Amino acid sequence: MQESNTSKRKKEHIELCLSDNVAFKTKTNGFENYEFEHFAITEVEFDKINLSTIFLKKKINYPFLISCMTGGTEEAKSINEKLAIVANELQIPIGVGSQRQAFEDKKHHSTYRVVRKNAGKVPILGNIGAAQVAKSKKIIDEINFLIDLVEADGMVIHVNPLQELLQTEGEPKFKGFLKNLNKICSKIKTPIIVKEVGSGISKMAAKRLLEVGVQGIDVSGAGGTSWAAVELMRSDKEDNYFQEWGLPTSYCVRKVKELKKDFGFTLISSGGISNGVDIAKSIALGADLTASARIILQEVIKNDINGVVDLMESWFLTVQRIMYLTGCKDIKSFKKVGLIRKEEMY
Ligand SMILES: Cc1cc2nc3c(=O)[nH]c(=O)nc-3n(C[C@H](O)[C@H](O)[C@H](O)COP(=O)(O)O)c2cc1C
Repeated sequence: MQESNTSKRKKEHIELCLSDNVAFKTKTNGFENYEFEHFAITEVEFDKINLSTIFLKKKINYPFLISCMTGGTEEAKSINEKLAIVANELQIPIGVGSQRQAFEDKKHHSTYRVVRKNAGKVPILGNIGAAQVAKSKKIIDEINFLIDLVEADGMVIHVNPLQELLQTEGEPKFKGFLKNLNKICSKIKTPIIVKEVGSGISKMAAKRLLEVGVQGIDVSGAGGTSWAAVELMRSDKEDNYFQEWGLPTSYCVRKVKELKKDFGFTLISSGGISNGVDIAKSIALGADLTASARIILQEVIKNDINGVVDLMESWFLTVQRIMYLTGCKDIKSFKKVGLIRKEEMY
């Protein structure tokens, strides 16, 4: 059977993301600029520290989600299946990659359905791009279809202007996006989350999104995967300026968190989250949840399901240790612990 252009592109994305050449080279997620305040008189009982939290009305064991990545190819189906098993084992949420191909051909449906089939009752996020949302004439039916396909608890819409701009086949056309997003938020009962893909969401952009009714913001900031680098590599080009374009994840979390006093929403920290310290600093800076993509993809390809479970558990152990040393017995208290900017210490 002939491979569609979208399937071919998805395959290339996975292949390129297996190398570290697509990471930001000079820009970081910014968390290294912060330190925890050590609490010398902690009385917290280490074994009783509780990392669980609520996401989309469901209890999850850790404040972490396997970020939206893939679907629409046979390889993607296998990756989704394995990651769903990980999500179920750890009782953490998982997102599917863009479901655009579900509109193109029914044969792709199973590559997304496989997630609910293996993830039990954990929260699942559907996914579609803002470019598709902006141009659709029957957006409500389409979003409902995508939600039903994966029995989603939440629907993610990704905004990726930089990627669309640099992708050879890209569609950097978002006119009408906010209008259609507003329609979606008012007509669809499933919560809508908007995420970037590695360039970050500013406070101003987040405010506009919350005003039209979005219930979650995943900042997906700079410091991890550079989608500009991915697209430039696909076309054998380089551009040092745009490869490094974007707002660092920690900056986005700190700024977008300020909107919490005016809006109720879930704030997700992603973009270069690559260890337990990044998770812990994200939560302490005000995020409700954290997420990673490429590092998990690399681990599942290299060391399969058990490799990802082990990696995640080692990250969560680090978070637990940090909570102990900062005197926090649960995520609620940990969110209030705050961080010290390094320059304050010296
Ligand atoms: C192979 C791959 C495919 C991705 N596909 C999607 C996608 O379809 N939809 C989406 O919202 N984000 C997608 N992303 C972006 C991630 O969800 C995430 O926002 C971004 O990679 C930054 O996180 P990281 O630094 O942990 O990789 C993809 C990431 C990877 C690595």
